[in-house]
Amino acid sequence: MDLRIVATIGMALLFGVGLAFAAPVTSLPDPAHGKDLAGSLCSNCHLVGGGEQEHANADIPSFREIANQEAQTEGTIMAHIVLPKHPMPTIPLTKSELADLAAYIMSLRNPE
Ligand code: HEC
Repeated sequence: MDLRIVATIGMALLFGVGLAFAAPVTSLPDPAHGKDLAGSLCSNCHLVGGGEQEHANADIPSFREIANQEAQTEGTIMAHIVLPKHPMPTIPLTKSELADLAAYIMSLRNPE
């Protein structure tokens, strides 16, 4: 086989493998995805965003209230989702979904 063809195929394979590995490395928490998850998984109980949602339970803190609790961080939010206090149910989530949700909730924190 012509050496140049071999080199071209080699480059194409390397490039493809490179792309396949690039995706997980760049997956930082994505608050926009967290917002989507919150809208489908959490909005039955929590007031999730700003205005668009009308019904939420008055006894359950809104995500804005949760974000603005003193000393709240992504870590404490994730802990409360993984080990919820009654009556909040345990919701099965992947690590990256948890991080996305926590990043979204913290994005509602007022600047100090
Ligand atoms: C069935 C209703 C219900 C659903 C669904 C629900 N929650 Fe909750 N959640 C609650 C209740 C009730 C509390 C308050 C528990 C307490 O502290 O007394 C709570 C508390 C929390 C807290 C802790 C607030 C604090 O005091 O720091 C976080 C964080 C939280 N929820 C996040 C979520 C997220 C994220 C989702 C969606 C993935 C979700 N919840 C879905 C009912 C719910």
